[in-house]
Amino acid sequence: MRLDRFLANLPCYNRQQVRLMLVQRRVRVDGEVAYEPTTEVREFSRVEVDDQLLQAGRPARYLMLHKPVGCVSATHDPQHRTVLDLLPAELRDGLHIAGRLDFNTTGLMVLTNDGQWSRRLTQPGTKLPKHYLVHTEDDIADHYVAKFREGFYFAFEGLTTQPAQLDILSPRQARLAIVEGRYHQVKRMFGHFDNKVIGLHRESMGAIRLDPCLQPGEFRALTAEEIASV
Ligand code: URA
Repeated sequence: MRLDRFLANLPCYNRQQVRLMLVQRRVRVDGEVAYEPTTEVREFSRVEVDDQLLQAGRPARYLMLHKPVGCVSATHDPQHRTVLDLLPAELRDGLHIAGRLDFNTTGLMVLTNDGQWSRRLTQPGTKLPKHYLVHTEDDIADHYVAKFREGFYFAFEGLTTQPAQLDILSPRQARLAIVEGRYHQVKRMFGHFDNKVIGLHRESMGAIRLDPCLQPGEFRALTAEEIASV
């Protein structure tokens, strides 16, 4: 929400007072003087007028986790261990998964309580590539590359996938960059050629790369630079 609207919505100020307070440089957002009426105020922002705290701001959390095999990308599951079970209880509250992975897929998983940020990371429109290392049951033919670039028609969604970059690394191993995260997308793409994916590992999402120091099941907070890259 815009700062002027946020302030004018409070019972203690009218619009004229808000305009004046901004011009007089009496408002601070996250510790910085804010005088632009359009400054964005979010649930995570700390807002002060003079020395009065109007909103403390909820702490935003951004984590990367090395997802192991055999664990569900969900916040609750009646049967299986979830990725949230790998985190200490005090960190779990309000977190959601930015880009799910299948039960046996491994690699980079990002968890946050910031919905606006996670939408930017996952929405196809922002075109952030997600890199996967793929192992297949059969050989990957050279002609796959053009088809991945051209797109696959997914009848269930009634759409054609956006251009994807396939780099063949060895007869049954490839690196794939896709900008979407459709349901079982990678498996369905290789399924077009009747070639089963037998190993799938997400290496990166945009500029966020899985930290090689993290063993499966381990996590760490994202750095300020990683958060800002989205
Ligand atoms: N595509 C898949 O098919 N599975 C995943 O886990 C991720 C992308």
